[in-house]
Amino acid sequence: MIDAARKARWIAQLKSAGIDEAALDLRHILLAAADDTAVDTMVTRRASREPLSHILGDKPFWTLDLKVTPDVLTPRADTETLVETCLKQISSRNAALRIADFGTGSGAILLALLSEWPNATGLGIDISESALAIAMENAVRNRLSDRADFQTGNWAEGISDNSLDLAVSNPPYIASAVLETLDPEVREYEPRIALDGGANGLDIYRILLPELFRVLKSGGRMAVEIGYDQAEAIMALAEKAGFAGIALARDLGGQPRVVSGLKP
Ligand SMILES: C[S@@+](CC[C@H](N)C(=O)[O-])C[C@H]1O[C@@H](n2cnc3c(N)ncnc32)[C@H](O)[C@@H]1O
Repeated sequence: MIDAARKARWIAQLKSAGIDEAALDLRHILLAAADDTAVDTMVTRRASREPLSHILGDKPFWTLDLKVTPDVLTPRADTETLVETCLKQISSRNAALRIADFGTGSGAILLALLSEWPNATGLGIDISESALAIAMENAVRNRLSDRADFQTGNWAEGISDNSLDLAVSNPPYIASAVLETLDPEVREYEPRIALDGGANGLDIYRILLPELFRVLKSGGRMAVEIGYDQAEAIMALAEKAGFAGIALARDLGGQPRVVSGLKP
């Protein structure tokens, strides 16, 4: 049993480091740590603004438990909007869908979709080999490795034309200059290659959307995560790439978060 005074000291240490959710973070640490010394070490790491997911080594996403290291972007709750969008648009739960997730990172989106569609198979692509190693571990951890393959690649290069039922991506979309203004947890600890979307954050979509159109079968669907202020620009890029039925979905905070479309 940990006494209240000690708990209050840990919370004060976290708060003075600028951590708003100090009590919640401490609760997670207390659940994970074996003893007081381990709590002390974890609180000190957190007070230096290391992300909680790196300290704990995992993060829940959708219904899954995902391993997280500094090699992958920590999956965000907002990204569950992308999973929900796909589930709403493709209602045939038992279809043998062929899915690919471009920039799969921890494997979060692909594995969440595979967990919902028992006959779907999927490919997770990333330019980072160290990220893919984590994604593979996550597939095994969540008993989805028999339906998930992973390969190194530069977006959709090498993927056959007209081969997919669903193409999803949460690409890097933060404008380079904005990166420097983000919290230290993101700025100093998360992989830059997972975040940096070039001068105005749209660079990747210009390459990716025409590529997603190319690799989808006719009647196939795409869904991409976007930044809160990018909806108009990305819907226009999706239209230019040839997509029909372009729609915008908002996250739980009401912000524009996902653009989806259909290849006619
Ligand atoms: C914003 S993260 C998304 C990770 C994960 N899909 C998620 O939603 O949590 C973007 C991912 O794109 C990958 N990436 C960056 N450039 C890439 C490229 N040229 N080709 C493929 N993947 C790339 C990064 O390594 C990173 O894993």
